[in-house]
Amino acid sequence: MSLDKIAQIIEDKNRLVRAIFSGRRRNMQPEFEKIELRPINLRNEIKLQMTTTNDTKSKTTNLNFGEFNTLEFLNSGFANFLVEATDATITMRFTKKGEPQIFATDKLLQQNTAHDRQKVRLFDAKNDFFKVIGISDRNGFVKPSMNDKYLQIEEFLRILMPLMRAEISADRLSPPTRINPLRIVDHGCGNAYLTFAVHHFLNEENMPNEIIGIDQREESRIRNSAIATQLSVSQSVSFRAEKIANSEIARADIAIALHACDTATDDAIAWSITNGAKIVLVSPCCHHELQTQMTNTPEPWSMITKHGILKERFADILTDSLRAQILRLHGYRCEVIEFIGDEHTARNLLIRATFTGAKADEIELSRYRETLKFWSIRPRLAEILNF
Ligand SMILES: C[S@@+](CC[C@H](N)C(=O)[O-])C[C@H]1O[C@@H](n2cnc3c(N)ncnc32)[C@H](O)[C@@H]1O
Repeated sequence: MSLDKIAQIIEDKNRLVRAIFSGRRRNMQPEFEKIELRPINLRNEIKLQMTTTNDTKSKTTNLNFGEFNTLEFLNSGFANFLVEATDATITMRFTKKGEPQIFATDKLLQQNTAHDRQKVRLFDAKNDFFKVIGISDRNGFVKPSMNDKYLQIEEFLRILMPLMRAEISADRLSPPTRINPLRIVDHGCGNAYLTFAVHHFLNEENMPNEIIGIDQREESRIRNSAIATQLSVSQSVSFRAEKIANSEIARADIAIALHACDTATDDAIAWSITNGAKIVLVSPCCHHELQTQMTNTPEPWSMITKHGILKERFADILTDSLRAQILRLHGYRCEVIEFIGDEHTARNLLIRATFTGAKADEIELSRYRETLKFWSIRPRLAEILNF
C-alpha cells in the first residue's frame, strides 16, 4: 500500500474510523508530538476532528474533510502511524533508514462519529414505526420486554451497514437503486422485528431494498403481512410461511438470521451458499445436534466432555467453528464475533461472512476433514450441502 492510498483512506469521511500519527523520524521534527484524527458529526455534517498534542497539552480543531493536508503530514517527520478504517487497519512505521514499513489487515470496524462519544442510537424509538412493529409502547418508549430485542437489532444493523458499504466499494455488491434494489432474506424471522427494522433503516439511508421474511409458522406470516400493510410497505416487505430448507426463493444479495432455532441456522447458511448470497449474517440460537453425535470422545478430550455443561459449550463452539469453516471453504471470508453484550442475550455470537470467491485452501480443507474424523461427527450443514 502506498502513502497516496493511505492518504485517500484518511480523507474518506465514510471510511475513516481513527488515525494516529506519533513518534519522530530520525533527524526530523514534526510540528506536534501526536495527531489524532477522527470523523465527527457536527450538526449533521461530518467533520474531521484533529487533536494535536505537544508537551502533554492537547488542542482540538474541527476541520472540513479536505482541509487537512494528509500527504504533507504523512511526510512531516512522524515515525508511527495507525490508520483504522471501516474496512482496513493499517500500521506504518518509518525505519531508521527512513523506509516506510506498512502492514495492512482487512479488519472491519465501525465509525463512531458521535460528538461526545456517547453511543448514538440508530433509531428513534418514538418513531411511529416502532410502535407499529411492537417494539415501543404508545408513548414511544421501548417496552421493557422488547429492550433486548431492540438492542440486538440495532447492533445487527451497526454491523450490517459498514459491511454492505465495504462490499459495494469493493464492487462485490451492486449499489442499490429503485430498479435494482438490494434483495434480503431474513430466515426464521418470527415477529419480524429485524426484518422491518432492516428495511426501514436501509430506506432511511437511501438504500432501496426488498426483504422477504421466512418463518415456518403461518401465524407469523399473517401477523407480519398485516403489519407490512399497516406500514404501507407490502410492495417491498413480504413474508412466507415455509421451512427454510424448502424455500423456493432463489436469490438474495444478503441473508440474515437472528436466532433461527437449532439447525435452522444451518438451513439458512446452506441456503445462502447455494443461492449465492453475497453477505451472510447469522446469529445462531440453541444447538443440539452435534452434542448428541459426540458420544465417543477421543482422548484426552474426555477431560472436558465429562462435564455436561462444558460438553454443551464445547459442542456449541465446534458447531459454529465448523459453520464458519464451511463458509470459508465455499469462497466466503468469514469471522465469528460477539455482536452484543451477553447481558442482552446469551446467544450473542454472530457469523459474519462475505463472498469473495476465493478458492478453498487445502490446509483449511484438511483441518475441516480432520476435525470431523477426529470427533466422528457430521454437522448438519455438511449433511445439507453434501460436503
Ligand atoms: C427464536 S425465534 C427468532 C425470531 C426472530 N428472528 C427474532 O430474532 O426475533 C426463531 C424463529 O425461527 C422459526 N424457525 C425455526 N426453524 C425454522 C425453519 N426450519 N424454517 C423456518 N422457520 C423456522 C421459528 O418459527 C421462530 O419463529
